[in-house]
Amino acid sequence: MAKLGIGVLGVGEMGKRHAENLRRLVPEARLVAVADIAGERARQVAAELEIEYSFASLEDMLASKEIQAVVIATPDKFHAQGIRTAAAAGKDILCEKPLATNLPDAYAALDAAAKAGVRLQIGFMRRYDPAYVAAMKRVEAGEIGEPVVFKSVGRDKDVPPLSAYQSTVNGMLFYNNTIHDFDLARWLMRDEVTHVHAYTTVAIRPEIARYNDVVASVVNLQYARGAIGNIESYVQAIYAYDVRTEVVGSKGSVFIGSVAQVPAAFLSIHGRTQPLADHFLTRFADAYLAEVRDFVQNMLNDKPARVSGEDGLRALAVAVAAENSHLQKRPCEVTHQHTGAPVGSVSYSAN
Ligand SMILES: NC(=O)c1ccc[n+]([C@@H]2O[C@H](COP(=O)([O-])OP(=O)(O)OC[C@H]3O[C@@H](n4cnc5c(N)ncnc54)[C@H](O)[C@@H]3O)[C@@H](O)[C@H]2O)c1
Repeated sequence: MAKLGIGVLGVGEMGKRHAENLRRLVPEARLVAVADIAGERARQVAAELEIEYSFASLEDMLASKEIQAVVIATPDKFHAQGIRTAAAAGKDILCEKPLATNLPDAYAALDAAAKAGVRLQIGFMRRYDPAYVAAMKRVEAGEIGEPVVFKSVGRDKDVPPLSAYQSTVNGMLFYNNTIHDFDLARWLMRDEVTHVHAYTTVAIRPEIARYNDVVASVVNLQYARGAIGNIESYVQAIYAYDVRTEVVGSKGSVFIGSVAQVPAAFLSIHGRTQPLADHFLTRFADAYLAEVRDFVQNMLNDKPARVSGEDGLRALAVAVAAENSHLQKRPCEVTHQHTGAPVGSVSYSAN
């Protein structure tokens, strides 16, 4: 069986999961190496996964001829440069979201991939989650009629440590968290967002305003074909990792997600208890595996990436408009001026 040689860059929480999946659960992949600026961490992960090579830089890892593709899971601000470097070395790329934290960096990354003729996938793994896939099939089959309203809630559980803001290596809420919902807003509605109006708050944690971030936001959406939408994001819900989405159409509605960890509840004299979803690595475990498996299979079979760089750009453009709206306190148009050749096609279809 032909195997795709892969290297994973950035083996923190997310990258380590990708490396584990590639090593143990994707038979068509061969995890050749991991790399991390924290070289000792890369070495430990390589030892744990029983692979030979670990590196402290992307450049060193790319020198390996056994690597045909790279998974990038560094913090947000390093994605675009990682894509440019991997593309210049002729490797296909699966990059975590967001594509970049600003539009010029995104254009440069897409142009580098197009120039090198490599394929680029962005890590919008919710498109691979069984519940979202099932919903998309209903939408595509016309079962809810014409989509009218998009609603999405994305609440992370634990209070981020202040150091997460101080490091400034990740994008603010819209780029790091809401970006998933901006992608779903396009994908499930099969339409483009043209205008956004963002409301934000730091009321319960004013100290993070100095890092240009917010604790929670609601973003109202206006679509090209006339539909509307609303997305709520909150980084410290405390009670659970709570991700839910609804698409309301002319003939019905499709509701995705549940705050319950499993569909079972415990009933006793004290009442009813039910464990709640508490982490993205458990809630979206199936999606992360399906995502890397699909990437590997498409690369091996010379097919385009399912979730393209262009998808990454369009979600990013919505995030940029939302940040502008937050800063200017008014509705803003979603625009981007990228004139380069699209990297892969804009994809709306389900698996
Ligand atoms: N798709 C999802 O659901 C999801 C979930 C979590 C995180 N993410 C994304 O994954 C990325 C990583 O997040 P994380 O939670 O794993 O962060 P993390 O801090 O746990 O891990 C980041 C790793 O990258 C390394 N690193 C930092 N700068 C580097 C560089 N320049 N070169 C090489 N390595 C570098 C760090 O040493 C660390 O090991 C982020 O972009 C985040 O937005 C996506």
